[in-house]
Amino acid sequence: MNALEVKNLIVKIGEQEIIRNISFVLPEGTITALIGPNGAGKSVLLKTILGLFPYYGEIKIFGENHLKMLNFVGYVPQNYTLDPILPLTVFEFLKFSNRDKNKINAALKETDIYELKNRNLVQLSGGQLQRVLFARAILNEPKILLLDEPVSETDIVGKKEFYEIIKYLNQEKKVTILITSHEITIIHTFAQRVLCLNRSLVCVGSITELFKEEILKQLYQRDIFVYPFNRPNTNTNE
Ligand SMILES: Nc1ncnc2c1ncn2[C@@H]1O[C@H](COP(=O)(O)OP(=O)(O)OP(=O)(O)O)[C@@H](O)[C@H]1O
Ligand SMILES: [Mg+2]
Repeated sequence: MNALEVKNLIVKIGEQEIIRNISFVLPEGTITALIGPNGAGKSVLLKTILGLFPYYGEIKIFGENHLKMLNFVGYVPQNYTLDPILPLTVFEFLKFSNRDKNKINAALKETDIYELKNRNLVQLSGGQLQRVLFARAILNEPKILLLDEPVSETDIVGKKEFYEIIKYLNQEKKVTILITSHEITIIHTFAQRVLCLNRSLVCVGSITELFKEEILKQLYQRDIFVYPFNRPNTNTNE
């Protein structure tokens, strides 16, 4: 079964066509990387799936209209603005999404930030806040996770831990994952599928697609060399 099905999706903001007639599916239980240059429409696509932008076309989650199925979706936004006037602890913040104390504690343990439980949100570092947003995303045991650059501010140890957690959620709990990231060499090691977006879809399919020079060139509109996959030949002796 497909966890997500997007058909002939067009998103316009004002006069501008941000997403140009794209179609793809996310088979249940897969990890898909959503790749593309700045301004490609990646965040707009995720927000549209969440019902935050009007669109033309069709979006289905487990075969039903997506708006009816949002309880099955967890989301980590690319940016999150804290309200400094309303100081909240991590625990209080998570309580807005689920009032069950045991579930909050479980999510904090699963994302390895139990020690941040009573810390004030505004006092957290960027990487710690990202981890709290991740805990919030898994709090209601989602079947689909939409992750928008979820580790952009996280250190290398935190990133490794994060990827281990999402691998666990995918393998043990069969969560379907769509993740945007600019770190395509890291993505390559754990995503099975890729969506290359630059307003239109440039490629959809197996992750190996991404490391074809012509795909990267079309996606980023310039020559890209991804070490070590298609490194230019720098050996001057040859
Ligand atoms: N709320 C909005 N109002 C008007 N334009 C918007 C809005 N949100 C996004 N856009 C425009 O839509 C386009 C795509 O933006 P989007 O944030 O989806 O890009 P992205 O692929 O996520 O880029 P990045 O890699 O920088 O995160 C951009 O031109 C952006 O200016
Ligand atoms: Mg974005």
